[in-house]
Amino acid sequence: MSPGGVDAASGSSLVKEVVYDEKTILARVTELAREIEDVYTAEDRLLLVGVLKGAFIFLSDLARSLTIPVQIDFISVSSYGDDTVSSGTVRIEQYPRMPLGGRKVLLVEDIVDSGVTLDEVVSLLRERGAATVETCALLHKRIATPDHEPRFVGFDAPNVFLVGYGLDHAEDFRHLPYIASL
Ligand code: IMP
Ligand code: MG
Repeated sequence: MSPGGVDAASGSSLVKEVVYDEKTILARVTELAREIEDVYTAEDRLLLVGVLKGAFIFLSDLARSLTIPVQIDFISVSSYGDDTVSSGTVRIEQYPRMPLGGRKVLLVEDIVDSGVTLDEVVSLLRERGAATVETCALLHKRIATPDHEPRFVGFDAPNVFLVGYGLDHAEDFRHLPYIASL
């Protein structure tokens, strides 16, 4: 099955090249779960906070790979509009619904590009009283050094626009089980 074939239905331009296939992603997500379990115990009552929408598939695979009990919430953020270049401003569209006071929070993010989103969201969760806030990012383009570097990173990604496995371009391609360049 060609990557292009999948997206013909969306009416969007076709993806260029598969960068991380499904097997590679799942293997790394499983490793990330073991790395997280080296840091947190069941007693920590870890709260995973997924950054919507991009992290929804990553969060669901990661949560199912963890063998420690966790709770799950989401924060909804938008910074890109329908463009492929960050607007540099982060708009919080929905805050986590659970009280964060005293909680150990692991922010689950799809990709770190400029790092602006991460810095904003980490600051915000700390303001809301979280005891600790760390980040697990599936992808890191390593083009910026955010104030809050993610503690867990899946892959150092190439500096190209990536789609699939939750990542979109103008809301297309999120459903792809692999990550591809546009
Ligand atoms: P940052 O604030 O520039 O680090 O951008 C972070 C957010 O922009 C991510 O959570 C993504 O939603 C989006 N983003 C950044 N790079 C890409 C990309 O290559 N493909 C799709 N979305 C991206
Ligand atoms: Mg995102």
